[in-house]
Amino acid sequence: MTQRSFAISRRSFLGTSAAASAALAFRVVTEPMLAYAARPAAGGFHDGVAIDANENPLGPCTAAREAIVNIVPQGGRYSFWLTDELTDQLAASEGIKSDYVRVYRGSSEPLHHTVAAFTSPQRTYVTADPGYEAGMMAAETVKARVVKVPLAKDYSHDVRAMLAAAPDAGVFYICTPNNPTGTLTSHSDIEYLAENKPKGSIVLIDEAYIHFADATTAIDLVKADKDVVVLRTFSKIYGMAGLRCGAMFARPDLLDKMESHSGWNAMPIPALVAASASLKDPQLIPERKRINAEIRTSVFTWLDRNGYSYIASQSNCFMLDTKRPGKEAIQAMAAQRVHVGRIWPVWPTYVRVTIGTASEMEQFQVAFKKVMTGAVTASMYPVGSSRKRRGGELAVRT
Ligand SMILES: Cc1ncc(COP(=O)(O)O)c(C=O)c1O
Repeated sequence: MTQRSFAISRRSFLGTSAAASAALAFRVVTEPMLAYAARPAAGGFHDGVAIDANENPLGPCTAAREAIVNIVPQGGRYSFWLTDELTDQLAASEGIKSDYVRVYRGSSEPLHHTVAAFTSPQRTYVTADPGYEAGMMAAETVKARVVKVPLAKDYSHDVRAMLAAAPDAGVFYICTPNNPTGTLTSHSDIEYLAENKPKGSIVLIDEAYIHFADATTAIDLVKADKDVVVLRTFSKIYGMAGLRCGAMFARPDLLDKMESHSGWNAMPIPALVAASASLKDPQLIPERKRINAEIRTSVFTWLDRNGYSYIASQSNCFMLDTKRPGKEAIQAMAAQRVHVGRIWPVWPTYVRVTIGTASEMEQFQVAFKKVMTGAVTASMYPVGSSRKRRGGELAVRT
């Protein structure tokens, strides 16, 4: 019988041959790679309900769409000044100097290169468990020790335990709201971490999901010249995951150290003008935050009514207890063309669910109930052949 494995095991990730290992040593790991690697192979990648990659089903706002159409005739030029303009706009919107801001094609690349620049075999990478995996995988490429510290009881990052765990730390990674739990770490805890961390280390704050939550940014610590780096992305509330735009806020010397690893590449100009137009839309964040919160509340109300367990989230994703090996639940949901997200080994019965549209979440509810009542099981999932997909060695083998 064919064995189907969803685990992104160290072995499958790194591959088995020396050549594969060498090729992977510098690879930037991204959310879509992790999401697609965990998705069952049969049934296609773009059919059914996709609530496994923390995407925003609303896509870019109207003004962003118009800006993209209007910039297309200029597509023959790099148009570097558009990058400068967006940098200035971001700096002005956060009240920080422009030389503390850099714009990139999403936040995955600066995340990877920051970790690679500030960790090493002598400087440890410290992260939460469960936490977003990409930074940890970046640390592995430079052979840094990785320390995973369990989330605190309230699902915030346990900054005191993180400090105690690695006196040799190079990077403390804080994702708030956290991917996958959607839970917050307070500004005072982040400040404590920044004040008490070992000399030479940095605190890397990933604010990819901050606009969905009532949270305080850590950009004030960057302004105060602390050893703090803040990452933002246009992939989440702005609905631009496929367009690729993100930003990094840090002291210029920290930005330079990161760029000594990454280099710099021209930005896609549709992404630049779409980001710029999105920032100018005063309704975008409050409106989308409200829509996401309303759908999330209605899903949580339904889960409560049915006695299902989950972790209350302030973001566009949450962890759901399937009360069985999470991989089986993913497969049983996929059999109904509802693709829910991956598991984290520390909580093997939980899967991550992204908040989709109201209608997608209704389909999720119907499918999940069938899984929980045993009406649909993993064994009903059609076994397909393995296929080549983006993510290469991350791909699930059948
Ligand atoms: C916590 C976190 N950081 C960073 C990213 C990177 O996103 P992007 O490269 O699309 O900006 C993601 C994507 O899902 C994420 O979840």
